[in-house]
Amino acid sequence: MKTFFVILFLLKIAIQLVCCTEEEDHLFYEGDYSKSDIIGNSLPGTWRPFNSDSPWTKKIPSDAQTHPDNEKYMSTFQAASGNIRFTQVYNPPIWVVNYNNFDLLRDFIADYPFDRWDPIDITVNPHTVDIGLPCVESMYGEPTEDGHMIIIDPFMQVSWEMSKFDWDRHKSGDYLCSTFNVWDLSGIGYGDNDEGWRNGCRGGRGSGYPVIAGLLRPEELEMGEIRHPLTFSLPNLQGHADGAPFVSPPACRSDGSDQNTDYPMYGLLFQLDPSLGNDDFESWGLDNNTKVIAKCLQEYGMYFGERGGGPAIAQQLLAETSDGSIEEWERRFPDIYKSMKKIPTSAFRVVANQGELKYDDENYDTINVTPLIKPIGGEFDSDQEISLLSRIQTAEFYYTLDGSEPTENSIKYEGPFKLSEPCTVKAILIGSSRRNSLIATAHFDYSVVVTPIPDPTNDDTTDNATLMSNKFFLVLLLMISLIKFIF
Ligand SMILES: *[C@@H]1O[C@H](CO)[C@@H](O)[C@H](O)[C@H]1NC(C)=O
Ligand SMILES: *[C@@H]1O[C@H](CO)[C@@H](O)[C@H](O)[C@H]1NC(C)=O
Repeated sequence: MKTFFVILFLLKIAIQLVCCTEEEDHLFYEGDYSKSDIIGNSLPGTWRPFNSDSPWTKKIPSDAQTHPDNEKYMSTFQAASGNIRFTQVYNPPIWVVNYNNFDLLRDFIADYPFDRWDPIDITVNPHTVDIGLPCVESMYGEPTEDGHMIIIDPFMQVSWEMSKFDWDRHKSGDYLCSTFNVWDLSGIGYGDNDEGWRNGCRGGRGSGYPVIAGLLRPEELEMGEIRHPLTFSLPNLQGHADGAPFVSPPACRSDGSDQNTDYPMYGLLFQLDPSLGNDDFESWGLDNNTKVIAKCLQEYGMYFGERGGGPAIAQQLLAETSDGSIEEWERRFPDIYKSMKKIPTSAFRVVANQGELKYDDENYDTINVTPLIKPIGGEFDSDQEISLLSRIQTAEFYYTLDGSEPTENSIKYEGPFKLSEPCTVKAILIGSSRRNSLIATAHFDYSVVVTPIPDPTNDDTTDNATLMSNKFFLVLLLMISLIKFIF
């Protein structure tokens, strides 16, 4: 039986290779890291999280309208500073891991695990999280009181994100982090405003964005192209008052309290004037690296998503300390911090959005919270049980195993089940007089070591002959397995 699964698995790889069905954005081959646990802190320049429907992958259409309140938002935006800049502190690290090789951290305490799923005892506070976190003591978080932390498995397309991450506090028996969220990187990349406890609702940022969303990475700058919107902070933001607009998607919450409606709200998209060209950039004195950022701000823009100094663009932490990180950015991109300050805030506009969410405490918790699929994905063997969890006991789970969207006509969950083949589990929570939950996704594969394959996302330099011979090798391997199986 095992041989049969191996053959199916190899067949799947061969088909994927020959048909090139894999989405380009996520190409990063596990085979090269089949023995690794921590892979490092770097992802390919072409890598980007979230699906093609996500605001985190979308270009601003050329006919996009200007926001009706552009003028008042622009005046407070420009008053904050004449120029944009890079964030000096408060930048999160990225830890790239292969989850399947990890000795997972179990039973840690989080102050706000996303909607309190997976507690050992639902009545206790703080909350114990037992989904298994690929994290070890040598991995550090953001070196400030915000303590953001991003752990990514690019093969499973999962991001584990925390704030106030503190390993020492964990060791003393206290909580490891305040917010704890798990994001499906093949998903849409934002939460629902009415989902879950307000404080714990979605991402570790004030806006509820995933921390990885819109984060600038050095590999993108080295590649010369940034293929997603950025995010930025401002000192002041419009807060919520009863019934007032308070955020715009992709933001789903706000930590603002200011009632001044001239301040922007989270979720607004700022765009650098797309009619500006190289001559304008030259006249501002931008160097080549900063021009890449300017081009990104024209094509994709930047989402307001954090309270802080600024307007300051969020980028990846590249060392254990904030100063060390600045040094590393400067080493790779000389004078980048100075250069960034040459992009004037007056050259931006606010793009019309798809509507604003009203702050409404009554309405909150009117959606079923996204269920948790446990384990969260990864390799499995025939004994592996899959369970679906939620704190909402009166709603029903429905799920699919073929990657399709679950509905109430899908398989009804009656208790833990076992998988017989690699698949994508999608689960939804329906009932309890709440709106249907968002869909949870988990990818499961056999525990088989994959043959290393060169990364074709380095496409200009990829030797097609090597790639072809790898494909040929896999097809050969498949044929040998088939022959073995038949005889
Ligand atoms: C900047 O880019 C231009 C055009 O691509 C190139 O000619 C120039 O040498 C670059 N400048 C530096 C300092 O690399
Ligand atoms: C590899 O093949 C693609 C199309 O099949 C082509 O565009 C590309 O230039 C080739 N690369 C090399 C290095 O030959």
